[in-house]
Amino acid sequence: MSSSLNIGIAGLGTVGSGVVDLLANNTDHINKRTGKFLKLTAISAKDKSKKRNMNINNFDWFDNPCDLAASKDIDVFVELIGGSDGIAKESVEIALKSGKHVVTANKALIANHGFELSKIAESNSIMLNFEASVAGGIPIIKLLKESLAANKINKIYGILNGTCNFILTQMEKTGKPFDEVLIEAQKLGYAESDPSFDIDGTDTAHKLAVLTALMMGNPPDFSSIQVEGIESISSEDITYSEKLGFCIKLLGIVLKKGGKFIQRVHPCMIPVTSSISRIDDVKNAIFVEGNFIGPLVLEGLGAGAGPTASAVVSDLIDISNGNFIPPFGCKLESENHTEKLDTDRFGPWYIRLEVIDQPGVLAEIAAELKNQSVSIESVLQRGRAPGECVSLIITTHETNEKKFKIAMEKIKKLNALTEPPCMIRIENF
Ligand SMILES: NC(=O)c1ccc[n+]([C@@H]2O[C@H](COP(=O)([O-])OP(=O)(O)OC[C@H]3O[C@@H](n4cnc5c(N)ncnc54)[C@H](OP(=O)(O)O)[C@@H]3O)[C@@H](O)[C@H]2O)c1
Repeated sequence: MSSSLNIGIAGLGTVGSGVVDLLANNTDHINKRTGKFLKLTAISAKDKSKKRNMNINNFDWFDNPCDLAASKDIDVFVELIGGSDGIAKESVEIALKSGKHVVTANKALIANHGFELSKIAESNSIMLNFEASVAGGIPIIKLLKESLAANKINKIYGILNGTCNFILTQMEKTGKPFDEVLIEAQKLGYAESDPSFDIDGTDTAHKLAVLTALMMGNPPDFSSIQVEGIESISSEDITYSEKLGFCIKLLGIVLKKGGKFIQRVHPCMIPVTSSISRIDDVKNAIFVEGNFIGPLVLEGLGAGAGPTASAVVSDLIDISNGNFIPPFGCKLESENHTEKLDTDRFGPWYIRLEVIDQPGVLAEIAAELKNQSVSIESVLQRGRAPGECVSLIITTHETNEKKFKIAMEKIKKLNALTEPPCMIRIENF
């Protein structure tokens, strides 16, 4: 082995400490696979006095990640702090501009600034790798950039957020309501104390923007993604979805339609027979369809110290071996954006309406749907309670999203409704 690849890590939290652990435990195994010895030489975190599972005195300590990024003594800067802007972005820019390779697990950074950062990397002929930014231990980025590089990818969808998948799975298994399961997820360390980015779909959208950019060779376009979270999914919806032969998953979806790419993040009812319906708890799964390979499904752990460290170190091994591939698999030529086509979907829906049980209600609802050419596939009403509130479950045939929403706006205003309707897209994946 000729020499070492000197590594500086900024951020020693879940992922950073996992990387330190992996490099220390699998040293011989890694060295057999690298052109250079992977040597961790310098570290940075916010609080030097914090108790850690490592001896920080073995490494050069930097209070400021930007100083580490600029250090002449490292070859690779590993950013494991997080956040789309601020110190994470600043330090990564400094590292790239000073000719250092960068590895990051930061999906928010890549989704929002991937294009400009990749341009700096390309112009300096250095590497910017971010395998850990999407689906943790599942090697989806390498797969799209390398193994499937010859394919035109027409469709990707996946369960990209373990927190949401845990919540939905536990609601299904235990019948407990959303709020109760969220608290359990927080206690188990599967959800942050502020879980907003997970449950409102933002985290999934960050990851989807990265996958779409790799799929189409255009800059990530986070802002054009139509995003809905899982906050409004109730135990009732979980129960009815089972009765209808579905389960509910939060999916990130990108489809190629004509020359355009449509990106969406929202809860979906998918058939229980789907290849990803039994991906439970914190696991992630990704479906990819290429024009020569056909369908492909990957599943695994999408977060946590071990799986994420595995992805970060694979990026380091690539750098060590000089496996130079542009950050998004090809040169991003322009700042073309995906079109915001949030009204273009043509597909079926599940609707739950809480209505007063009185004659004529169903006819009023059916009339509003008919006025927008929305065709009903099935209607389910459990029990009878004249004058009281009952759940009315309707599924539709494939319908234009724009027209469906016009009908639902009208239905929302009907006097018989006691609460806003719950609407979930059905995807026959
Ligand atoms: N956790 C996962 O399973 C996972 C999976 C995939 C991707 N990611 C991504 O990986 C990145 C890191 O996530 P994480 O879960 O490891 O986060 P974390 O546990 O919160 O750790 C963040 C680290 O950054 C350090 N830090 C914060 N502000 C800093 C500053 N101004 N200067 C220097 N260091 C600073 C913290 O220092 P102290 O230790 O001193 O507080 C801590 O060590 C994020 O981009 C995240 O999205 C995480």
